[in-house]
This record gives sequence, structure tokens and C-alpha cells, in this order.
Amino acid sequence: MLNILVHGASGRMGQMVCRILQNETPDMVLAAQVSPDLAENAEKGIFASLEQNTVLADCVIDFSHHTAAPNLAAYCAEHKLPLVVGTTAHTEAELAAIKDAAKTVPVFRSANMSIGVAFLAEIGKRAAALFPNADIEIIEKHHNQKLDVPSGTALLLADRISEARSDAEYVIGRHENGKRKPQEIGIHSLRLGSEVGSHEIIIATGAETLTLRHDAEDRRLFAEGALAAARFIVKQKAGLYDMRDMLTKEASL
Ligand SMILES: NC(=O)c1ccc[n+]([C@@H]2O[C@H](COP(=O)([O-])OP(=O)(O)OC[C@H]3O[C@@H](n4cnc5c(N)ncnc54)[C@H](O)[C@@H]3O)[C@@H](O)[C@H]2O)c1
Repeated sequence: MLNILVHGASGRMGQMVCRILQNETPDMVLAAQVSPDLAENAEKGIFASLEQNTVLADCVIDFSHHTAAPNLAAYCAEHKLPLVVGTTAHTEAELAAIKDAAKTVPVFRSANMSIGVAFLAEIGKRAAALFPNADIEIIEKHHNQKLDVPSGTALLLADRISEARSDAEYVIGRHENGKRKPQEIGIHSLRLGSEVGSHEIIIATGAETLTLRHDAEDRRLFAEGALAAARFIVKQKAGLYDMRDMLTKEASL
């Protein structure tokens, strides 16, 4: 039985992970919930900070705020806790802290925990290689409470496409007059109502246009992906892992 600590437990994603852990996972249990806006109740495993937590967990699942990353990463390294990071929008310094922790414990990080998006990234990269001169633009849509722009997933998709295009230049929210340069990857963000998350890669050669799209229907998708990542990461050695590692190593996914 895996004891899971959910970091960012009071948020949209944190609550979803907790709900699944409380009702649907015979192999995992919700051991602790940590969020600065939770009223502390040690008996129920609820804490306002990691420092106040008294529960021994086997793995941490994080859907919080990027600024929490250095403290979270140091805590996991110190307590030898495998870590699943679902939070997005980390700065270079925050990413460095996560990578540092990965020298001591296994860390899984993905801006999108859905298998469908992992597949979208893969075929986006393949399409970029297949059409080296095509214009590529990414459009993402999210709910009106989302903080980071563009979404971590849009950047993840652009990063994968860039693996096939070494000269790629990101243009975030195109707003200046002038012709588009061939190496640009345009990234556009819409914020609308309760949209869970939609990502579209458009690849246009001039003669044909390919549109690859993923729509998340329910954020349960990401919570289930994070739980699959927790099952995966507790079996790994120290290091940094992502969806590609999980999908290649876990035949069941
Ligand atoms: N990887 C994925 O598949 C995926 C999917 C959805 C959302 N996300 C990302 O997950 C993160 C959370 O998303 P959300 O929609 O649940 O956000 P939210 O705003 O609803 O929840 C954020 C939670 O983090 C907590 N928090 C804020 N600062 C904190 C700190 N310093 N330490 C600990 N907890 C802190 C808040 O109290 C809250 O509980 C965002 O970065 C979002 O982009 C990732």
C-alpha cells in the first residue's frame, strides 16, 4: 500500500487527486494533505505546510504553485520521498531545484499527465520532421482561473517540436506587424469559462494543413495520470523522469 502526500491539496487538481485516493485506489491511500489554506488537523493528516507535516508518506504528488518548488524539492530530497510534479510554470531556478532533488530521489515531472497529450507531442514532433518547411502554430484553451500563460502543455508541445527543428523560435501571443519567419512556432492562449484544457498544433505547408488536437474533457484525466506516475516513480532510482519514460517502461499504459 502506497501512502501518498498531496501537496496543493485544496486546489482544483489537488482535490481531484484526494477524492480518487479516498474512494478508488485499492493500492494507494491518502496519507496527508498539504496546502497553506487548509485548517490544520494532524489526526486527519491535514497540514498547512510540509514543515508541519508529521505523516510518513511513500510519495508526494504536487499540484500547487511553481514558487513552492524549491522548498518542496528540498523536503523530498531530505526525507527521501519520491516526487511527482504536476505543477507548471517553473522558473529556471525552480527547475534547477527540482533537478537537484532528482540527484537524491526519483522525480517525475510533466506539464501534462495525460497519455493523449504525450501522444500528441510525439506525433507533433514527427509531423514537424516530415514537413520541415511548414509553418507551425499552437493554440491552447483553458478556464478563466488559469494562472500561467501560455500553458505548460503548450510549451511542452513546442519543446517536443523543437527537437525536430533546432532553429525554432517561439512567438508567444503574436501581436506585432510583419511577416512570419519560417522558423517561428507561434503559441496562442485563450482563456474561456470552465474549459478544462484544449491544445491544437497546426502545421501548414501552403499546399496542405494538418491539425492535431487534444481536448481534455475532465481534470480527472490528469489526476489519474499523476497516480499512475506515482506507481511508476516509487519503483525507480533517483533521477528525473517524464511521460516518455513511463510510457516506454510501463507496457500496461
Ligand atoms: N500536469 C498536469 O497534467 C496539470 C493539469 C492541470 C493543472 N496543472 C498545473 O497544476 C497546478 C495547480 O493547478 P490547479 O488548477 O489545481 O490550481 P489551483 O489554483 O486550483 O490550486 C493550487 C493549490 O496550490 C496551493 N498552493 C499555493 N501556493 C502554495 C505553496 N507555496 N505551497 C503549497 N501549496 C500551495 C493552493 O493553496 C491550492 O491548493 C498549476 O500549475 C497547473 O498549471 C497541471
